[in-house]
Amino acid sequence: MYETSKSAQRQQSQLRLLQSQQELEVGNIHDLPLPADELMNANEHSSFVVQTLKGGLTAYVYKIQAQGKYWCLKQKRDEILVKNIDGQTSFLNEIQRRQDFERLKKDSAKGHHYRNIIDTIYASNNRGIIVSPWMEGGHIQKNNRHLIESLFETIYYMEIEGIFELDYCPGNLLVNNNDIVLFDFGYMYRFDPLVDYNPDGKSNPVFHSAERYESRFYFQYLMDLEEEAGKAQAMKEFEEEKGIVLKMYKKKLGWLQAHRAEQAVIDFTKHFIDLWELGLRSAEGLEKVYALESFRSYVIDLTDDLHGQSCTPSTLKKADKILTTLHTNYDFLKENQAFFWGDETLEQAALIEKYTQNQALAQQYQLPA
Ligand SMILES: Nc1ncnc2c1ncn2[C@@H]1O[C@H](COP(=O)(O)OP(=O)(O)O)[C@@H](O)[C@H]1O
Ligand SMILES: [Mg+2]
Repeated sequence: MYETSKSAQRQQSQLRLLQSQQELEVGNIHDLPLPADELMNANEHSSFVVQTLKGGLTAYVYKIQAQGKYWCLKQKRDEILVKNIDGQTSFLNEIQRRQDFERLKKDSAKGHHYRNIIDTIYASNNRGIIVSPWMEGGHIQKNNRHLIESLFETIYYMEIEGIFELDYCPGNLLVNNNDIVLFDFGYMYRFDPLVDYNPDGKSNPVFHSAERYESRFYFQYLMDLEEEAGKAQAMKEFEEEKGIVLKMYKKKLGWLQAHRAEQAVIDFTKHFIDLWELGLRSAEGLEKVYALESFRSYVIDLTDDLHGQSCTPSTLKKADKILTTLHTNYDFLKENQAFFWGDETLEQAALIEKYTQNQALAQQYQLPA
């Protein structure tokens, strides 16, 4: 998506691995609930398939029943439908992360930190299957303190092990017994937490874990909440979320300092801590953070949806909000360095023109309802 040398390097080594057809296995094939052949050849008509999940551009996803239990089977597509490199390598990438997590889960000192990460029964790149236990529940809809806390605790322990998730969309966040479960690792990459901001190294300072969660899910949730329950309720929940995230970033800062991280990484983390601490001190301050971060997330999400030509009525609402803010609050945005990815070089009129065009494109790329 945002080509940079670090992600280009990762892509190259993954492509080489794919071409070499070297096997990558996680777990033990004998732990599978059904013979591997049957799982490799499963389709929606197989007797043990109880549900075929929608979506799945890189894999077919099935809920299966065997040995008195439910399991999730992810099966690599012969032809992956996402035509960019990250899409092409996402199945392999998911197996690589499952390898990381199985190693961490087995570590007696650390294992419990990864309890919100799905277990892998067995995964094989050459056989093209990944099998996990089936988690009852469903995608995240509402938020509560416990869910956000458990998510960010998990993120903390992922990050200090050098694992960074890009896509916290609701379809990738399951809630099982009021606990978050992470289970889709197609866009979860390695990074060096002492040197890099994220898997793009230092070249894309826009991405950090709170931003990823907020851009892919939380600001959409708050935007809907503003409509359903009013701005005051949205602000109340935003304040709670910021408090939780602030705590996690402070803990991360302590870890970075203790492990002698590069100063730039320490400053990067401190920057958010300072911003949120100030924001949480007054209603006015919080309004300001809300305005800045919602603007950022709307821009990122709109860019994403246009890139994938996958727009919805929410994309249009975001485009609308971006334009309104550009018209009425440009000076505030400029003063607070709210522009990025080239927008920082544009003046107000040019920005309005750009986002008017983007709004038209979002109209053109509406997915069928
Ligand atoms: N272990 C699981 N338990 C329950 N549901 C799952 C599990 N794994 C995947 N799913 C469901 O299948 C959907 C698609 O799976 P996911 O791993 O996100 O694949 P994709 O690459 O298609 O995004 C998820 O949104 C979720 O609803
Ligand atoms: Mg997914």
